[in-house]
Amino acid sequence: MRTSYLSNLWANRIGGASFGEKTTLYKFEKIKRAQQEARQQHPDKVLIDMGVGEPDQGTLPEMAGLLGWAAAESNNWGYADNGGMHFRGAVAQYMKRLFGVHLDPETEIMHSIGSKAALSLLPLCFINPGDIALMTVPGYPVLGTHVRYLDGEVYALPLRKEEGFLPDLEAIPEAILKASKLLVLNYPNNPTGATASRAFYEQVVAFAKKHKLIVVQDAAYAALTFDEAPTSILQVPGGRDVAVELHSLSKSFNMTGWRIGWICGNSEIIEAYAAVKSNMDSGQFLAIQEAAAYALGKPEFTENLCAKYRRRMKVLVEILNGVGLDVEPSAGTFFLYVKAPQSVAYQGLEIVFENAEVFSQWLIREHLISTVPWDDVDAYVRFSLTFDAPTEEDERKLFKVFAQRLEECRFNVGSVVNNSGITL
Ligand SMILES: Cc1ncc(COP(=O)(O)O)c(C=O)c1O
Repeated sequence: MRTSYLSNLWANRIGGASFGEKTTLYKFEKIKRAQQEARQQHPDKVLIDMGVGEPDQGTLPEMAGLLGWAAAESNNWGYADNGGMHFRGAVAQYMKRLFGVHLDPETEIMHSIGSKAALSLLPLCFINPGDIALMTVPGYPVLGTHVRYLDGEVYALPLRKEEGFLPDLEAIPEAILKASKLLVLNYPNNPTGATASRAFYEQVVAFAKKHKLIVVQDAAYAALTFDEAPTSILQVPGGRDVAVELHSLSKSFNMTGWRIGWICGNSEIIEAYAAVKSNMDSGQFLAIQEAAAYALGKPEFTENLCAKYRRRMKVLVEILNGVGLDVEPSAGTFFLYVKAPQSVAYQGLEIVFENAEVFSQWLIREHLISTVPWDDVDAYVRFSLTFDAPTEEDERKLFKVFAQRLEECRFNVGSVVNNSGITL
């Protein structure tokens, strides 16, 4: 039983007295329920889960042994706090090798307990009530949630296909810019799979200087690009005057649960981050930092991952285009962002999808294919290439079933645009 007075004690930022009473179902809960129902209705069919946002396989096989060895070292047993120079040194090498960016491990690099943790800390460094963070949408919402916790505001920058899924900075009203402190980017981008060029970063740096903004570039998928070499905002002249970049081993080294990443770039921003961080956590276990330092010296692991995602993407794009969808391969990440069709001709019927969520629910219930819908700007669904298929043979079998399930469908791609406004 609930203690009666507790409901008067919840903070407004989590809903105040109505905390826990929400009846609206969130996107991921709706997906879960549709999956459960589809499985019950079709116990003979496997669910093809292309909604998962994390790698389907583990990291380098030797990592578990390495972690054990590092955990046995008494030097690694204490609070790590903001320390871990070995890891920072390995990051400096990695940034030099991958991007040609030279960073001082003492002042320009600091570990994070994953990008999510860093995104939740940064608003504490900069946001006072009424301050604005400019954030691309659709996108990963964590930083925005924390901005709002601090009574700051989020101004959404819509990402559209016709603009290469890059924000139109010149369209931001002057009054918004005056109250803005942070410009938050994420390239390679989740969910659109778009990447950013150096030319774009040059524009961003000039814009940030002109409008006195700090740039937070979330590079959680940094090394996962398919056709072009990965880019960093720190490659651009003046980048480190205004920007920090957040990197992670979660996706590039399949280390999601290990909780290790880093922030790098402007030393003053990193000093502020370190000050807040030291009051928030006591650092990532040094043994995990040691193991992560080793992984960073194995870029071929990420190259093999890219090859696998590229191979999967090619087949997926072919199948989806074959049934009438209009799909182009992504430039990066492990996501394929697909415009939701207006309708489908299926079993003699014309079924209309009013938005991406309806389309995604239909795919789950009718075909046991799970994706994630995004209706924030235009109507799209996100297919993840991290579906469970341990061998190439498993992958071929899975794609065969996938193609068979959709072969009777003829999708009609129209302009299903969500006009309900842009929300984060
Ligand atoms: C854009 C983006 N940023 C950050 C994260 C969080 O990554 P990490 O595991 O490093 O906290 C994710 C994870 O899904 C993501 O998609």
